[in-house]
Parts: sequence; C-alpha cells; structure tokens
Amino acid sequence: MKLVVENTCPTQWRFEYESNDPELENLYELAKTNQWNVTTDINWDQEIKNDSDILARKENPLGRSKFFARLSKETQQEVMANQAAFTLSQFLHGEQGALLCCGELVDAVPDIEGKLYAATQVMDEARHVEVFHKYLKKLDKHYPITDGLKNVLDAILAAETWQQKCVGMQIMVESLAMGSFKNMLVTADDQLLKDIVTLTARDEARHVSFGIISLQHEIPSMPEEERAALEDFALAALNILVGRRGDARLPGRSFGFEQPLIDAGLDPKEVQAALTEEFKTAPPPKTEQQPLFQAYMLPNLERVGLISDRMRPQYIEAGFINPQQAA
Ligand SMILES: [Fe+2]
Ligand SMILES: [Fe+2]
Repeated sequence: MKLVVENTCPTQWRFEYESNDPELENLYELAKTNQWNVTTDINWDQEIKNDSDILARKENPLGRSKFFARLSKETQQEVMANQAAFTLSQFLHGEQGALLCCGELVDAVPDIEGKLYAATQVMDEARHVEVFHKYLKKLDKHYPITDGLKNVLDAILAAETWQQKCVGMQIMVESLAMGSFKNMLVTADDQLLKDIVTLTARDEARHVSFGIISLQHEIPSMPEEERAALEDFALAALNILVGRRGDARLPGRSFGFEQPLIDAGLDPKEVQAALTEEFKTAPPPKTEQQPLFQAYMLPNLERVGLISDRMRPQYIEAGFINPQQAA
C-alpha cells in the first residue's frame, strides 16, 4: 500500500485578515463552540452487548438472504460481527483521509476565513480518527482500507486545485458520510456507537456546509474552462465512489466485503454465486430509501452548480439521475 501521495496543489498566503464572509465566520464560531472530547464526552464504560448486531442485518443484502438464513447461528454471528468491524474500519480510514485533505485545505484555500474554518475541521477529523480507532479497539477487530476507498482518497489528496479537493472531500465524501451516519443512527443496535455517531455527524454537517458555502461563492466566478474541468472531476469522482448504478445492483458489489466472509470460514465466490442465483428468481427486497448518493450527494452537487446543462445528460446516461427527475 502506497503511503506517500504527491501533492502539487499550491499553498497560498493571505494578508487580508479581515473576513468578508459572514456565513463562514458564523460556521467558524459554531465549530469553536461545538468542540468535544473523545475521552470525556463519551461514556466508554458502556459495554457492546452483541457485536454481531451492531449494524442491522436487514440493512445488508446478505443478511436478508435465504442463503444467510441457512448458515449456522455461529457463522451468521461471525459474518455480521466481521462486516461491522469491516465497515467501521473503512470509516476510520476515511476519517484519516479527511484529516489529511483538510490539512491541505488550510494551505490551499485562498481566503483567511476559509483557512481559519478549515483549521477547526482538522481538529474535528483528528477527533473522528481517535473515536473510531477507540471503538474498533473495543471491538478488538479491524480491517485494512479497501483499494476502492484508497483510490478515491488518493485522487482527492493528489488533486491539483483546492476547488477539486473541496468538491471531492467536502461535498462528495462528506455528504456520503453524513448519509451513512444518519442511517446508522436509526438502524445501529449499540448505544455506544450511536453516541459516537451523534457527535460525529454534528461535525460532518458543518463540513458539508463549509464545502457548499465556499463553492457557491467560487464556482460562478471561475473561468469557463476551469469550471468545466471541475464539473468533469465531480462526475469522475462519482463514478469511482459509487460505480455505475447498473454495477451497484449486482449482489457481489452491494455487500462486497470479501475478507469478513473469509474470516468467517466462507468462500466469497460461493457466497456470490448463491446470492446471484437467489436474486435472479427473487430480487432482494427494495429498500424504500433512495441510494445515499442520490439522497445526500447529488442535491449538494446541484446546489453548488456542478450539474450543469452540459453535465446533466452524462449523469442520466450513467444512471445517476433518473430522466423523469431531470427536467
Ligand atoms: Fe470526519
Ligand atoms: Fe468531515
């Protein structure tokens, strides 16, 4: 795994210390007053009662399948416990990616109010790394970062402009994280995790606001060519982040976690074959919810003006936007 990412995004000084952006100033004030401490603001004495039910089984296509129902109780528990540790490990690695990216934003954003705000986010993300690491230590199980997540984060860290980093991290990754945390708050069955997610999601909401405020000011004034490059970057990042909708429907992709299966003594290929067969005759029950990227990320891309008339047909073609909703 490559540990070094070359970053060519320029660092900018700014000697106008007076802020011209009341919205960012307010967000900075909010960030200062909403700081919390992982050590003292979370009750770490709470026991995790059942590590196989931390994340709801019904949220997981494998957990809802007949194949799963036929496994022994012990294997079922092991698979679910491993998948919870796997998912939360990806959150931990994602939080480190956010920490590194936000450190870059302190350097790269042009205005002083953006630099000050981004500095508060660096502390937020440090806290998130700390809190997920501490929770995973309690679970006593963790997994390495997936290639897919590492590639996305590396692309954002290596991006050449602050606008690209801001779109990739603050709008896209942060919106997805917000959606996942909101889901977890409803479906997770562990009070300690819910306490962690409640405080973390409050921070993430500010991070998305930072992205929206900064880009809403920036994008309309960008030269046409740079704006088009930013629009293309967003769609390319979306393709890496969620895959094309057609792929996302494949059972292998939607549950996707191989190592947690292997660790529970299962063969991922056999599992995938069994589910593909099962879903051919009886498709997995549709959840009423929209996919997270549609519910949380696309509205924000729209809000900052990145789904332009030029881009909309490409989003439709890729299956990200439903043509009926596109008018
Ligand atoms: Fe975070
Ligand atoms: Fe964040």
